[in-house]
Amino acid sequence: MDKCERFNGKTAIVTGGGGNIGRYTALRLAQEGCSVVICDLNEERAPAVADEIRHKGGQAVAIRTDVKDSADVRKSVAQTISRFGQIDILVCCAGGSTREKMCYFCDQTEDVILDNIGVNLFGALFFAHAVCNHMIERKHGRIVFIASVLGTQGQRGTVEYSASKGGVLAMTKALSMELGEFNVTVNAVSPGLVERGSQDVSDRNYIGRNCTADDIANAVAFLASDEASFITGANLTVDGGWGLGVQSGITPGRNNFRVVRERQNDV
Ligand SMILES: NC(=O)c1ccc[n+]([C@@H]2O[C@H](COP(=O)([O-])OP(=O)(O)OC[C@H]3O[C@@H](n4cnc5c(N)ncnc54)[C@H](O)[C@@H]3O)[C@@H](O)[C@H]2O)c1
Repeated sequence: MDKCERFNGKTAIVTGGGGNIGRYTALRLAQEGCSVVICDLNEERAPAVADEIRHKGGQAVAIRTDVKDSADVRKSVAQTISRFGQIDILVCCAGGSTREKMCYFCDQTEDVILDNIGVNLFGALFFAHAVCNHMIERKHGRIVFIASVLGTQGQRGTVEYSASKGGVLAMTKALSMELGEFNVTVNAVSPGLVERGSQDVSDRNYIGRNCTADDIANAVAFLASDEASFITGANLTVDGGWGLGVQSGITPGRNNFRVVRERQNDV
């Protein structure tokens, strides 16, 4: 593994490290010298990512963890400390939107609502709660939550998801105010739509290419690094400007651009 020094001697927990964004984040941190503990419910993909890191010369283990279960979370944090001696970085990436169950809120089931809030919000709260005393004692820490543009913009069909990510953004600010004096920063990264497989989502932003999981991992690595030591309580949006389009009422998309140009020609 081609290592630079940025995270040498550091240990990170990456929740949801068996998934798309989590995997790229774990690989990126490990590539730059970090020991990585992948806490994920998936008992196949998470160990596979840890294997991939070790195969490339890095250090990684996977610990099966349900982020919705605070006892499980505490156990995984304790195991990480006993194995690596410290936790410098926490990246809370486990989550998702149960996309296949998207519907108007009036038709949504309680199970889906509880699941979204459980994984996305309680998962982040439980992990931050479990690591913060350790980070306070060490007077060092970086906490990065993966939120979403939908946590600020909202979207029809994902009320419970928006609520969970909005909660994550609020806790980012509040927790950053409590932990700053201990040299523990707390920030969020809000992706727009990240590519998955061969899906083309390049018309959902103003850059005109797909957002990759690596784009998100770059932002996380920056916020986890010493270079970001004076940044806290921030929400770093990584969406190619998509959220701006939502705010202005004109979402990016080739058809919309054409409409704008046609309107300009009319004037
Ligand atoms: N993909 C996108 O376009 C996008 C956009 C905005 C925000 N996000 C956020 O980024 C994060 C990662 O998304 P992704 O696209 O990589 O998803 P993904 O489905 O590829 O990965 C999510 C991972 O979380 C794990 N997980 C789910 N429930 C868990 C639980 N209870 N305990 C432990 N692990 C659990 C899954 O096993 C999986 O490995 C999520 O929080 C998601 O909401 C994604």
